[in-house]
Amino acid sequence: LADRVQALGFGKPALLNIPGQAGPLNLASNPVDLFRAHITALLHPVTGVAPEIIAPALETTLLPERGDFVLAVPRLRVKGAKPDELAEKWASAFPASDLLSKVVAKGHFVQFFFNPLVLYRMTIPQILEPNSTFGNSTVGNGKRIIVEFSSPNIAKPFHAGHLRSTIIGGFISSLHERLGYEVVRINYLGDWGKQFGLLAVGFRSFGSETELESDPINHLFRVYVTVNSAHSAEKELADALALIDTSNTSLEASDISDEARAELTKKRDEAQASIPALTKAAIDAALVLDPNHPLKDELDTEYFRERPIDTEAKAYFKAMEDGDEAALALWKRFRELSISKYTKTYERLNIRYTEYSGESQISNESMQFVIDLLEKKNLLYVDRGAKLIDFKPYAKKLGKALIQKSDGTSLYLTRDLGAALERYNKYKFDKMIYVVASQQDLHLAQLFKLMELCDFPWAKNMQHVNFGMVQGMSTRKGTVVFLDTILEETKQAMHEVMKKNEAKYDQVENPDEVADLVGISAVMIQDMAAKRVNNYKFDWSRMLSFEGDTGPYLQYAHSRLCSVERRAGFSREQLINANFDLLTEPIAQELMRILAQYPDVLLNAARTSEPSTVVSFLFKLTHTVSSCYNILWVAGQEEELAIARLALYSSAREVLNRGMILLGLTPVERM
Ligand code: ARG
Repeated sequence: LADRVQALGFGKPALLNIPGQAGPLNLASNPVDLFRAHITALLHPVTGVAPEIIAPALETTLLPERGDFVLAVPRLRVKGAKPDELAEKWASAFPASDLLSKVVAKGHFVQFFFNPLVLYRMTIPQILEPNSTFGNSTVGNGKRIIVEFSSPNIAKPFHAGHLRSTIIGGFISSLHERLGYEVVRINYLGDWGKQFGLLAVGFRSFGSETELESDPINHLFRVYVTVNSAHSAEKELADALALIDTSNTSLEASDISDEARAELTKKRDEAQASIPALTKAAIDAALVLDPNHPLKDELDTEYFRERPIDTEAKAYFKAMEDGDEAALALWKRFRELSISKYTKTYERLNIRYTEYSGESQISNESMQFVIDLLEKKNLLYVDRGAKLIDFKPYAKKLGKALIQKSDGTSLYLTRDLGAALERYNKYKFDKMIYVVASQQDLHLAQLFKLMELCDFPWAKNMQHVNFGMVQGMSTRKGTVVFLDTILEETKQAMHEVMKKNEAKYDQVENPDEVADLVGISAVMIQDMAAKRVNNYKFDWSRMLSFEGDTGPYLQYAHSRLCSVERRAGFSREQLINANFDLLTEPIAQELMRILAQYPDVLLNAARTSEPSTVVSFLFKLTHTVSSCYNILWVAGQEEELAIARLALYSSAREVLNRGMILLGLTPVERM
């Protein structure tokens, strides 16, 4: 590499491979690492500090006037002298170098300014070369990582929590791929549980084959809502009847105080009074399920005592748990049709899964294995037939958790533990990330603690990437949310916004597709613009605006750069060989230093699992490009200058494009 730098017309720089840094320095795709290796090599003899301490202390800065790297002197932990004196001493002892334009002491800091020519000559060709890997890294080479994300529940709404998990999880997956990891994407569906017995009962009485085929997700949800309300209606009635019975029994006893008697009588009479209305509701609900219900002509309250829907649903789910083929066949269709519909929707967001797993897929053997293991380690206690764990001795805040119910049925937590074990056996992952809402912080903390208590050697390689809530996410009509509906509505709204600018609109060949892609960017950028933990308000008009830090703004910036490229019409070859010495304006240098930071931005984003790191970077980039337009003209300039400037704009478009794709957007060329 030193030779390559020399070939660019600079002296042969001192370079140092930095121990502790994963693999060799990533010089082919991270220009900033070149400076890091160079400055470390020169600073090591000046300070006497070990390279592995110097290198990570060299941090990129936000403001150009603070230098490209800043070193906080105290981070080198040199004893005996004042930091500002050391800063002075080191800055003046620092040898002259072709790679740097200046080195300055400022208080406790030393600022390093890169020679912009080196950056241009190194970086622009790197960005523009065909099949460029700019921004990629090798830190993850040879490592496999599982990212579990989205994980909606079949027959239930795809709520904001699932949307966020999908968006953030998609980003985390792509990011790790860029950093060299092998990524396994898993969707852990909520596809098992008593509610599937209920769903089957509902579907058998009033489901529609055609609707199931054409729109499984919405149809199953409608079936579920209806059968569920019939189920609740019969429960309410049965509860009232039971209350009347127990009150009557207590009232028959002789040793009861007058006070208690009065209280019980009052409760009983209230329940009695509510019976006609509850009965009517239960019958109405039953008739919705089955219009030919025998109760049609008669108010038979006693009929509901046995809770027929509940009984049937339980029997159905029991048959499923026992592996009954017929019962499973219907459930399987629900699952498969939902998955194929989801697959299409995820594709709109550029997401493909390695595996659609789900609660249903975890074997009883795995769950029994972990339960036995916990039992052998004496971690469980029994209460009324159920098995529990008390986390208190290991972690105060984790409370207690049920591991197995008294009827032997499994639980969300136990299933998750079995799932993790199965995933390890199948994939031997180096790391596993769960992208799940903060509401489940406790659940995941308990899960991770259980893995530890099981002494699974991989337990330490877990990460929960959590996030806050979205307020007010509903369709524009205010109904429950489905991912597809949201994307459809966003597209329509975006299309309306685009139509307002007639002249531009007429130039777009495929407005429908563009509206879809720009609309999706609006939803995604709104979601990733701030730190994950923040809640945010779903705001139609703000997110669709072309002004401010929105998805449409990024798309607009990208399409404008495309148009600059189109109009200039130079070849890649010409751009790569441009005369960069002509890019002397401070704003050009500022843009260059931003572009060069992209690889480091990705590493930082991986460290914090924050998509906002990349989003803010892209806004900084696009704002700077927009300032360049007033100063760095391409049209009407001498060809040599025009080519040099276009090389910079093209590099900006390339980096913007890469960043947008990484976030899951599809950059458009015209809009
Ligand atoms: N299906 C769950 C829900 O909607 C989310 C699953 C999260 N992942 C997990 N491994 N528990 O709440």
